[in-house]
Amino acid sequence: MTQRVALVTGAMGGLGTAICQELAKAGHKVVASYHPQFDNKDAWLAEMAEAGFKDFVCVAGDVSSLEDCQKMVAEAEAACGQVDILINNAGITRDRMFAKMERDGWDAVIATNLTSLFNMTKQVSAKMAERGWGRIVNISSVNGVKGQAGQTNYSAAKAGVIGFSKALAAELAAKGVTVNVICPGYVATKMVMAIKPEVLQSIIDTVPMKRLAKPEEIGGACAYLASDLAAFMTGATMNINGGLYYQ
Ligand code: CAA
Repeated sequence: MTQRVALVTGAMGGLGTAICQELAKAGHKVVASYHPQFDNKDAWLAEMAEAGFKDFVCVAGDVSSLEDCQKMVAEAEAACGQVDILINNAGITRDRMFAKMERDGWDAVIATNLTSLFNMTKQVSAKMAERGWGRIVNISSVNGVKGQAGQTNYSAAKAGVIGFSKALAAELAAKGVTVNVICPGYVATKMVMAIKPEVLQSIIDTVPMKRLAKPEEIGGACAYLASDLAAFMTGATMNINGGLYYQ
């Protein structure tokens, strides 16, 4: 297979880590983008090396900042060459019932989960189109499709991710660049474990498979969408949610 350069945002989180590993297993050179305030980079790299992933290149920046995204992609290109695969995975939650939600919780989630797609994709999409090959995979959520009480901000941003991806897929379809969405259900990561245990249990009870997803079950789908085999798939939304919700 052809080795390509894959940049993953939110790379050091639960889902991001699995995505990096699955892309590396598929033979790609992985650039791990992480928030500068994340202070466990060295420990993460050591853990990855221990698990057999020794070649990750790291770039630091806030995906809600256009300037940071320009800088991260420039660093990735300098270290590894042009970015062929972009996985927009970085995301946050600020869950509150709408009655109690303040503008800062709204703005933070829209900026990190949605505006980040403009900021990052802008740095790579035209160059992918010029080269005639590219893969963009955007991580949305089951809650962007079905809506979730306590997540008006997150559900709005994640629904926006789907709209963005369909529109860009149409613009780039003839240029060899695909844009697809993965909507994970509840995955066993720190973000989900932050839900109060009784609330989380009530959510798991509603999942037909009665369990959380394993991060690699999402990472594997990313690797597929980034592959040559997925060349005819664009503008698509992949639901990976244990049967929780179908479109
Ligand atoms: N539907 C409708 N109403 C609900 C509800 C639901 N699912 N859950 C709670 N409520 C109601 C309660 O009945 C209660 O109503 P009353 O005040 O009339 O009695 C009210 O909401 C409680 O509101 P509070 O603001 O006082 O509740 P809280 O502060 O204790 O908790 C919350 C609010 C933090 C949003 C909590 O409900 C929660 O964590 N919910 C889960 C949200 C969720 O699923 N987040 C997913 C995070 S993981 C992720 O996002 C990854 C992914 O992509 C899947």
